[in-house]
Amino acid sequence: MKKFIPVNEPLITNSDVLSVSKVMKSGWISSEGPNVKLFEKKFAKYIGHKNAVAVSSGTAALEVAIKSLNLKKGDEVIAPNFTIISSTLAVIKEGLKIKFIDCDLYDWNMNLDKTIKSITKKTKAIIATHIYNFPFRIDILKKICEKKNIILIEDTAEVLGQKIFNKKCGSFGDISTFSFYANKQITTGEGGMITTNNAKLAEKMKSLRNLAFGKKDRFNHDEIGWNYRMSNIQATLGLSQLKRINQIIKIRHSNGKRFYLNLSKNKNIYIPGPKNSYSKNIYWVIGLLIMNKSLKIDSKKIAKKLNEYGIGTRPFFWPMHKQKVLKSLRLSKSKNFKNSEYLCKYGFYLPSSLTLKNKEIDYICGVVNKILR
Ligand SMILES: Cc1ncc(COP(=O)(O)O)c(C=O)c1O
Repeated sequence: MKKFIPVNEPLITNSDVLSVSKVMKSGWISSEGPNVKLFEKKFAKYIGHKNAVAVSSGTAALEVAIKSLNLKKGDEVIAPNFTIISSTLAVIKEGLKIKFIDCDLYDWNMNLDKTIKSITKKTKAIIATHIYNFPFRIDILKKICEKKNIILIEDTAEVLGQKIFNKKCGSFGDISTFSFYANKQITTGEGGMITTNNAKLAEKMKSLRNLAFGKKDRFNHDEIGWNYRMSNIQATLGLSQLKRINQIIKIRHSNGKRFYLNLSKNKNIYIPGPKNSYSKNIYWVIGLLIMNKSLKIDSKKIAKKLNEYGIGTRPFFWPMHKQKVLKSLRLSKSKNFKNSEYLCKYGFYLPSSLTLKNKEIDYICGVVNKILR
């Protein structure tokens, strides 16, 4: 391959460009433009929640979601240990306690049994995140949360379009959050969304994302908020991309299947299959786990080697209990996170763009099989 294959490249079509250019010419570029509301409406309908609140990122979505709950200092939130740092930041910035749960080795989501066993009287909310491939069994956790009056936040940043049985991910949470960063299913460059059936919470979240401007006197603010608004330009791109969501998911499935067919016979690696008993693999990223330690190749080594062949990669997430910025806070009593640690050391993902060509996929797999034989 002559051209370097980046780990991700957004798929921007001519119609995306046309809609954005039209809206720029109209002058409606800030969050005041009409497409923000329209994007919220269409997105809520797609997910199956009554309300949606557009924000500036998936991280902002989590922060606003947590703050809207008005939890008390010291209340406890359960969250995954293997994920991006955003969920942890949202919890600790509100002065809440976080309890990390280790992931499973084969679907990389927070372990369901450990999550359920970790619930105590102090647990007020759980952040359930779908990681990379298969969804977390939020359908099961939801029933338990309902019984115990625990708020369920569904971090759906990575898996827009994913379903459990026939129900969309993002429709299970009391509050669900999404990201539209450039590598996500649909992108607005940077951006995010929060959805909920609770109209009161939605109103509160709309206020929080917009500096909590005073209801009585605009510049006498009601509480401490953020400017986490989404611009009309971003919303326009989001609307244009959302129209193609079914097509986008088809590409994910078909690229993922091709990687799987090329790599699954290699016993030195593990790649999750295209489906299981409750869902299809969304293959948001083409994640691999090196299973044979005796090869003496970890995710850092393979990244270097693949780079020499013109193939971009990313290592898996760094577990929360090992984050240097969190260490001094001593957030976690438990030290038993062996699956997250294994994933961090031996997990990585391959180029996962929607723009990948079959011959690029075959080339990448050929190189991986050669290195990890
Ligand atoms: C599971 C998960 N949640 C939240 C986020 C944060 O989204 P953003 O990058 O838009 O802030 C990400 C980012 O990739 C993510 O993977």
